[in-house]
Amino acid sequence: MDQLNTLNKMTEEAQAAILGADSSKALYDLKVKYLGKQGSLTQMMKLMGKLPKEERPKFGQMVNVAKKELQAVYDNREKAIGDKELEGRIQNETIDLHLPGPESFVGSKHPLRSVIQEMTQILSRLGFSVRQGPMIEEDRYNFEALNFPKDHPARDMQDTFYIDPEHVLRTHTSPIQIRTLEKEKLPLRILAPGTVFRVDSDVTHSPNFHQVEGLLVNKQVSMAELKGVVGFFLRNFFGPKTKVRFRPSYFPFTEPSAEVDCTCPKCAGKGCRLCSNTGWIEIAGCGLVHPNVFKSVGIDPNEWEGFAFGFGVERMAMIKYGITDIRHFYNNDVRFLEQLIL
Ligand code: DAH
Repeated sequence: MDQLNTLNKMTEEAQAAILGADSSKALYDLKVKYLGKQGSLTQMMKLMGKLPKEERPKFGQMVNVAKKELQAVYDNREKAIGDKELEGRIQNETIDLHLPGPESFVGSKHPLRSVIQEMTQILSRLGFSVRQGPMIEEDRYNFEALNFPKDHPARDMQDTFYIDPEHVLRTHTSPIQIRTLEKEKLPLRILAPGTVFRVDSDVTHSPNFHQVEGLLVNKQVSMAELKGVVGFFLRNFFGPKTKVRFRPSYFPFTEPSAEVDCTCPKCAGKGCRLCSNTGWIEIAGCGLVHPNVFKSVGIDPNEWEGFAFGFGVERMAMIKYGITDIRHFYNNDVRFLEQLIL
C-alpha cells in the first residue's frame, strides 16, 4: 500500500527532524509543519479517499497512532529543549552586584522647619519651652486681649484675613501669649513658633509666614533682662560678634516697646546692600507686657511683670543664608531645598 509507505516515511522524517531541533523556535516550526492544521500528517487523512473502502478504517487508525507517537516525541523534545534553554539562561544571566543601584531620593527637613528648630533650641537653653495655638483665631485672642481695642487704628498695623467678624487667620503668634496666660501657672517662660497670615505679598513678604514668639512672666522683670535674652539668642543664631540695639517703638501689647536691631551678619556692621549701608538690621519686636494684657486674663499687673518678643522666621533665615526672595521657601524646588539642608 503506497499510502502506508508514505505515512511511514513521513513519520520517520518528522521524528528525525524533531529530535534534531535545537531551539524552541525550530521545534515550533516543525510542529506546524507536521502536526498543525495544515500539517502533513493531517493531510494524510485526505489520502484516505483514494483507498478501497475496506482499508480506510485501518489506515485512519494508523495515521492516528502515528500522530500520537509523533506528539509524544515532540513533547519530550520540547521539555529537553526548555530545560537546556533555562540552564543556559541561568549560566549566562548573572546579576552584577558591583553595579551601584539606582540612586534613591532622600527627603530632608524643610529649611523653615530647621530654622524654627534652631531658634527654639537656643532659647530652650534659657528654660523657654514651646506652646502652640490655632491658626484660625478668635478676634478676642488675636487683637482684643492684646490691647488692640475694636476700631482702634492699631489694628491697621496688621492686614488681616477675616473669616467672619469674630474669627481671623492669626496675624501673629502673640495670641498664644494670651492662651497660655489663661491656662498656666505663673511664673512662666514660653516660646510659640507658628504660621501667621497677612494680606501682604512681595519679594520679602508672603501672605503666610512664620514667627517665633517669646514670653516671660515673673514677679519682676526689666528691659535689661529682655535685652540680655534677645542678645543671647541673636549671638547664638548669627554669631558671637553680633551686637544688639533697641529702638523705641510701639506695640499695643507692650509698654515700653522696642524694635530690635542687630549688626548686619553679612558685613559685620560695616555697611552693605543687605543693611542699606547702615550696618544694622531690624530683626524683631519686643517690650514689657502691657498691664492691660495682664488684666484681660485676670492677672494682677501690680503683682506680676513680663517681657515678650517676636521674631520673623523667614526674615531670620533670609538674612542668615543670603536668600533674596521669600517665595523660594514655598515653591519647594528641590534644587533650592537641597542647598539648605541644615
Ligand atoms: N506680634 C508682633 C507682630 O507680629 C511682633 C511682636 C512685637 C511680638 C513685640 C511681641 C512683642 O511679643 O513684644 O508684629
